[in-house]
Amino acid sequence: MADKRDFLHIDDYTLPELRAILDLAKQTKPLARAHTLPHTHPNRVLACVFAKPSLRTRISFEVAFRQLGGQTMFITDKEIGMGTRESVHDVAKVLSRMCDGIMIRWFDHGEVVELAKHATVPVINGLTDLNHPCQVMADIMTIEEHLGTIEGKNVVMVGDGNNLAVSWLNASIRFPFNFILACPEGYEPNEAIVAKAEAAGASFCITHDPQEAVEGAHVIYGDAFYSMGQEEEAIKRRKDFARFQISAPLLKAAHKDHIVLHCLPAHRGEEITDEVMDGPHSVVFDEAENRLHAQRAILATLIR
Ligand code: CP
Ligand code: NVA
Repeated sequence: MADKRDFLHIDDYTLPELRAILDLAKQTKPLARAHTLPHTHPNRVLACVFAKPSLRTRISFEVAFRQLGGQTMFITDKEIGMGTRESVHDVAKVLSRMCDGIMIRWFDHGEVVELAKHATVPVINGLTDLNHPCQVMADIMTIEEHLGTIEGKNVVMVGDGNNLAVSWLNASIRFPFNFILACPEGYEPNEAIVAKAEAAGASFCITHDPQEAVEGAHVIYGDAFYSMGQEEEAIKRRKDFARFQISAPLLKAAHKDHIVLHCLPAHRGEEITDEVMDGPHSVVFDEAENRLHAQRAILATLIR
């Protein structure tokens, strides 16, 4: 399958290709809600490989592919031992002989790139330590549902320069919006990705002042202070990120019609207050639902 496409980084796709995925997600959302989606993928099997916990990613990929008439198989790193029990290359070859697509949540991004290189079926990144492209596709879908378009909007992430920040930077290479990250010193995103976004002429800025960052924000974006695998840093990070909580006082300077997104899971009372999570500007559960619709569109586009 020489022409197979993977979904590993948002900027691997052109803006028209990304728009086509988002359009498909938007068109099929009401059909999915009405249980009237056509079964375009009968007899197809999606391998869902997980080395980290998940609620949204696992459920949304499994439900999405079943909605297309396909079947899914949940596999943990402990079972396949990719890179330990057997090489990434061999896992890629074997899964490609038996399955029609691979969705993977993993630690090491390089191993996912290697998996995709050797797989002959599409590989979809369900989060690595580097990035989380499917999440940001669902986020853009959510922003456009509420604000009409992402074009020209100020998307302000308050928190860690983590895998979500990297996917937002990748998105800013393709979509015409302004990305602002307010993070503590020492928590800036991957330097190579920042350099890539700069070279591409993306509109973004990294600051250490959350108050200044949210001025005029149309979208406020939150994520945990510590990601999966960083639990041992929780105490230090809680201190380092103390000024970076998304709270009602912080949001006073935002645009009056701003919306609040959080990829979830949220540590309520830590990086975001209950008041904001459950407040009138919050669209976090629309965002969670849109994982299903955005990912179904990615699956339908990539898997034949
Ligand atoms: N947002 C997200 O990826 O959630 P899960 O970790 O529950 O999959
Ligand atoms: N940055 C978080 C995102 C969770 C969806 C993590 O990697 O744990």
